[in-house]
Amino acid sequence: MSLLEQLEIKHPIFLAPMAGVSTPTLAAEVSNQGGLGSLGLGASSVSSAREQILATQALTDHSFQVNFFCHQSQVLDQAIAAKWIEYLSPQFSRLNIAAPQQLECIYPSFLDNDDFLNLVLETRPKAVSFHFGIPHPHQIKALKAAGILTMVSATNLPEALAIEAAGIDIVIAQGIEAGGHRGIFNQSIDGAIKTSDLVQLLSQHCHIPVIAAGGIMTGQQAHVLLQLGAQAVQLGTAFVQCKSSNANAAYRKALLNAPVTQITDSISGRPARGLVNTWHMTVDQPDRPAVPAYPYTYDLAKQLHAAASQQGDHSYGAFWAGSNVAQIRELEAADLINQLVLELSQAQ
Ligand SMILES: Cc1cc2nc3c(=O)[nH]c(=O)nc-3n(C[C@H](O)[C@H](O)[C@H](O)COP(=O)(O)O)c2cc1C
Repeated sequence: MSLLEQLEIKHPIFLAPMAGVSTPTLAAEVSNQGGLGSLGLGASSVSSAREQILATQALTDHSFQVNFFCHQSQVLDQAIAAKWIEYLSPQFSRLNIAAPQQLECIYPSFLDNDDFLNLVLETRPKAVSFHFGIPHPHQIKALKAAGILTMVSATNLPEALAIEAAGIDIVIAQGIEAGGHRGIFNQSIDGAIKTSDLVQLLSQHCHIPVIAAGGIMTGQQAHVLLQLGAQAVQLGTAFVQCKSSNANAAYRKALLNAPVTQITDSISGRPARGLVNTWHMTVDQPDRPAVPAYPYTYDLAKQLHAAASQQGDHSYGAFWAGSNVAQIRELEAADLINQLVLELSQAQ
């Protein structure tokens, strides 16, 4: 059975899961148009995740994927946290607010307990994808037994081989161009492989379907990656400007005004690509101290951004975007899918 038949979708186009940007409406619009819609639930509580899945199911009978984070939870190194807070305290002072005393672990990992697993088993989306790592063997077994397809992001060959060996159904080849967080398992070893190279590498060495993700904004670009061995493409940034995304006005404006991106780990504690702003230009000094573990660093960044935006300063926003963001189009999600499908067929 082909991948599209397995997923019961018409077009080899996936909406990337985007925590904070995904909405049930956006997911359903993509699914109803023949692509694979998605919900990024990594930053959601179990009850909010349940609401979003049920809302999507009410809007579409078609397949969609849900997405969770599989990072290894770490005990916060208090000395590193204290240095980081001290380093960033001038930014808080500038806004006339106090820096936090403590950093909190703001997101659980799917690996920490089975609450999210049980939610997925109860609500039965067609597919579930994971970022930053591989679920536990008992979790994979339960998902497979329920007939739910599993997908995990890989940024290099060893990750992809581990994903395949774990019995995961589909590997997402996430290239260095990708917007948002790199799915890399161990962030201290980053080969920064571009999407086209990664697709070729994984297609040669893996037996499971490979999905290309990173820097894809047009049907022509998708066609090139399908020719290189990908069985589908996954696009994130291309959909952020859609009306039904959750991106706020400041994010939408920045996407059009400052289409240059860079990777930093100073926002969340993990490397992620976004529009260049205060984090890249001011915080990432060469003598910057080490960042606390993910997602503790994100706690501070969110507080700083919230306080600054209240004062009209949006320069601390985590405005995630891929390196081809300048090619973004302001279209409704259904029209964007139609346009991508047309470009794909014209490229053949
Ligand atoms: C705003 C935004 C949020 C993202 N959030 C997630 C997420 O929650 N889970 C995930 O697996 N990937 C996430 N990603 C990464 C995407 O899955 C995908 O790799 C990326 O969007 C592909 O590159 P592109 O943005 O150039 O299309 C996010 C990307 C963006 C742009």
